[in-house]
Amino acid sequence: MRIAVIGPGALGTFLAGTLASDNELILFGRRELEMGQVEVQGQTDIKEKVVYTTDSSYLKNADILILCTKSYDTKGAMEDIHSRINDEAYLVSFQNGLMNESIMAEYVGEDRVVGGVTSHGFTLIDDGKVIHTGLGDMIIGKYPEGHDVIVDDIAAIFARAGLCTDTTENIYGYIWKKVIINAGINPITALTGLKNGRILQVPNLRWLMGMVCNESAEVARTQVELPGVEVTEAAEGVARATAENVSSMLQDIKNNRRTEIDCINGAIIDIGAEVGLETPFNRCLYSLVKAKETSYL
Ligand SMILES: NC(=O)c1ccc[n+]([C@@H]2O[C@H](COP(=O)([O-])OP(=O)(O)OC[C@H]3O[C@@H](n4cnc5c(N)ncnc54)[C@H](OP(=O)(O)O)[C@@H]3O)[C@@H](O)[C@H]2O)c1
Repeated sequence: MRIAVIGPGALGTFLAGTLASDNELILFGRRELEMGQVEVQGQTDIKEKVVYTTDSSYLKNADILILCTKSYDTKGAMEDIHSRINDEAYLVSFQNGLMNESIMAEYVGEDRVVGGVTSHGFTLIDDGKVIHTGLGDMIIGKYPEGHDVIVDDIAAIFARAGLCTDTTENIYGYIWKKVIINAGINPITALTGLKNGRILQVPNLRWLMGMVCNESAEVARTQVELPGVEVTEAAEGVARATAENVSSMLQDIKNNRRTEIDCINGAIIDIGAEVGLETPFNRCLYSLVKAKETSYL
């Protein structure tokens, strides 16, 4: 299979290194980088030669393109690449946030979009060098729902690369579930500076996380069927399992970078408004994180 990974950050570098041995693979970025070999350390140890390019004409041969930009860059990346990709190619996303797949679908149509979620963790330490910090799951499905044989093919490619990947006919439900958990954990950690697990030890924060998750789930249920356990229980489970982690939103705030709050709590607020549901807890956290961002962006 000919695969193009778009975005040479933590997730993209990991996927490029992992999938390169068994596939014709290119890693596409928007900046020139010196990258002959990709190195993955930690849970997986990989050293693989990867073709890196900023030339979008290379993308026309790809059968599958995996978008690995931050959610706020999805639109820009699609603008850059859509005219270069072939009419049969599928686009896959493991990004966080609610809008990635719908933005991709605006350019190529829903039938060619495969949604995904992953609970693996990665940290980029240098160009082409990533640490696989946490083992997790991967799940993919035809967006927004249903079955397509390409989903089974992609899961098989990932499995051959050692990445056990489940498939579902309700991927938008899984994407929503992850967004709800992120909406509950990430802004609270970003605002307090605490690691994920501390939320469970501070009663007011635990209560707040529950209120955000329940409010978000009410919006979600107007769009999808939420899979698995109840959202507060799920968020508490993730906070417990990642107790020592510094959330990506807290890392972004600490490093004066833009956060993904627009596609997480921001998207929940917008969809809530569209369906006539108030989202005061999300709105409050969103406003505070935005105020922090504005102080340095
Ligand atoms: N890291 C994790 O553990 C993890 C786990 C699960 C899900 N995710 C999700 O996966 C997504 C990516 O996260 P990440 O941690 O990999 O982010 P990241 O390290 O910031 O990487 C994003 C990459 O995308 C590149 N990019 C942006 N616009 C582009 C464009 N138009 N064309 C080509 N490349 C472009 C960026 O390039 P520049 O350097 O030029 O900005 C950067 O290399 C996020 O939605 C995140 O929430 C991450």
